[in-house]
Amino acid sequence: IHVAVLMGGWSAEREVSLVSGHECAKALRHAGYRVTEIDMERNIAEVLGRLKPDVVFNALHGPIGEDGNVQGLLNILGIPYTHSGVMASAIAMNKPAAKQLFAGVGLRCPEGRIVGKKEVVLEHPMEPPYVLKPIDEGSSIGVRIVHKGSNAPMLNGDWPFGEEVLVETYIPGRELTVGVMSGKAMAVTELVTDEGFYDYENKYAATSRTRHIVPAELPKPVYDQALRMAEQAHAVLGCRGVSRADFRYDDTEAETGTLYLLEVNTQPGMTPASLVPEQAAHLGISFPELVARMVEEARC
Ligand code: DAL
Ligand code: MG
Repeated sequence: IHVAVLMGGWSAEREVSLVSGHECAKALRHAGYRVTEIDMERNIAEVLGRLKPDVVFNALHGPIGEDGNVQGLLNILGIPYTHSGVMASAIAMNKPAAKQLFAGVGLRCPEGRIVGKKEVVLEHPMEPPYVLKPIDEGSSIGVRIVHKGSNAPMLNGDWPFGEEVLVETYIPGRELTVGVMSGKAMAVTELVTDEGFYDYENKYAATSRTRHIVPAELPKPVYDQALRMAEQAHAVLGCRGVSRADFRYDDTEAETGTLYLLEVNTQPGMTPASLVPEQAAHLGISFPELVARMVEEARC
């Protein structure tokens, strides 16, 4: 079986995707597949048309690769691909759209609304602390926490993520994530950062001292609830293959605390040190086994 691994591209998560892609390609070779690595450019339709792989392993992150665009092209070309299809990808990538679906099935998300980026410059869009997010980026790119007592953020010349900004209540407490494979939640990981929140630096910098605690040390009902919420989110979006749901767990007030779903990533990071592969390892599934399973589930 000939697998083309799509990676890179031109989103803000290009570098992350190249790492995911190379590592997946290596593991796929190890698992016995014939592998071609493709750094996606605008001629991708032509490249795939010529190559005619049996399966595309999608290792792209961010707009175009994760939001349904590439998935639509692969449907047109008739090449089976890993991860979610067009609609799940498009909705999951758009955080406000995904939150509406989640609310429809009773999944708790942080309160939020969309504001124009010019509105944010003059006054606080809500009582701090709150979080500003691009509508459709990944890896925490552009995410800012506005703390109590700070000025309204200046976004005008400094917001390359479109005219709109998602503003959400800041949820104090802990950062959790749950991978889902074939509809079934894998495990809960807690991310413990040394300093600041789980931002781009704390995710990827070589100097990052972020710890991944799997399985997360949580009261059993909370652990189980996180698993169920991730499965429900995967299902309501109509995801396929692997996805990963990110959570905040506010343990500062109620006895058992409260879980908030932040989002679902339909193309979660896929290096051996990434969160989904770590959860797979926790379940006894090696990285080559994981990518092989993903290829087996590929479809148009
Ligand atoms: N957006 C990054 C790759 C993740 O969710 O893992
Ligand atoms: Mg994300």
